[in-house]
Amino acid sequence: MSLDKTNARIIVVGNEKGGSGKSTVAMHIAVALMKSGRRVATIDLDARQKSFTHYIENRRAWAARGGRDLETPSHICLDENDAATDDRARALTEAVDKLAPDHDFIVIDTPGHDGPVSRLAHSMADTLITPMNDSFVDFDVLGAVDPETFGVTGTSQYAQMVAEARNQRQRLNQAATDWIVLRNRLSSLGSRNKRMVGEGLQELSRRLDFRCIDGLAERVIFREFYPRGLTALDDLNETTLGTRPTMSHVTARLEIENLLDTMGLGVPTASNDDVGQARDRDAA
Ligand SMILES: Nc1ncnc2c1ncn2[C@@H]1O[C@H](COP(=O)(O)OP(=O)(O)OP(=O)(O)O)[C@@H](O)[C@H]1O
Ligand SMILES: [Mg+2]
Repeated sequence: MSLDKTNARIIVVGNEKGGSGKSTVAMHIAVALMKSGRRVATIDLDARQKSFTHYIENRRAWAARGGRDLETPSHICLDENDAATDDRARALTEAVDKLAPDHDFIVIDTPGHDGPVSRLAHSMADTLITPMNDSFVDFDVLGAVDPETFGVTGTSQYAQMVAEARNQRQRLNQAATDWIVLRNRLSSLGSRNKRMVGEGLQELSRRLDFRCIDGLAERVIFREFYPRGLTALDDLNETTLGTRPTMSHVTARLEIENLLDTMGLGVPTASNDDVGQARDRDAA
């Protein structure tokens, strides 16, 4: 990546654990930023699954089908046919250089496994969002815990990769990556597991220099959004959604707005409602 990159902020959504919610979160961040009037581009590095690409294509098709007004980002999916790593790395650099001058944000979704191109993307991140399912199996890519005390005993492979990517930025005199770990698929009920994972993340956040937020609850609407390319940020009416909005939509929106607030991008969010209170109402 050229060092004179213009002012586009690069947001990378990464976790080498599969199924943690990366593509879902990437889509929600992109739509939230477009709704606030920002010029947003998106890049899909998961050229095999293409979930992010299909999510955006589904949105375009849903908008066209019903004459709905749904904003879509300028999107690039890195070509799977560029089998050679060097070619794919070059393609990512070129995509960023092409999109940066005309966009305020570039949101990059990465695959659920390690690889040189994903590493390169991590070194480009001004903000790195790591969604993490609320279990010690998912925690394991960040850190190890003692089986008796559940205290953190060490850091793991993904955390070490992020540390290397951050060091690389430092060597290039680029601003430090703001790393946010977002707990995903949280149960609405308190549990020992939820508390233990939360405590482990607090301890790791100090060691690894990330911020941790209680991101998204487990909600069936996140799975239903995909075929229509919708997000919790879209107009909560029957025409847009194709179904009647529920309390779950409202609370999910607050959770995403809370994420945007935490990211500190200067994006005004519509609601001042408290996420915790909304979750309690939703679960009641
Ligand atoms: N908060 C949530 N509540 C319920 N389902 C969710 C939530 N977040 C994500 N999901 C669902 O979990 C599955 C995995 O999500 P997603 O595809 O976004 O993860 P990913 O990290 O991109 O996966 P991969 O590593 O395979 O690319 C999807 O079926 C998605 O709809
Ligand atoms: Mg994905």
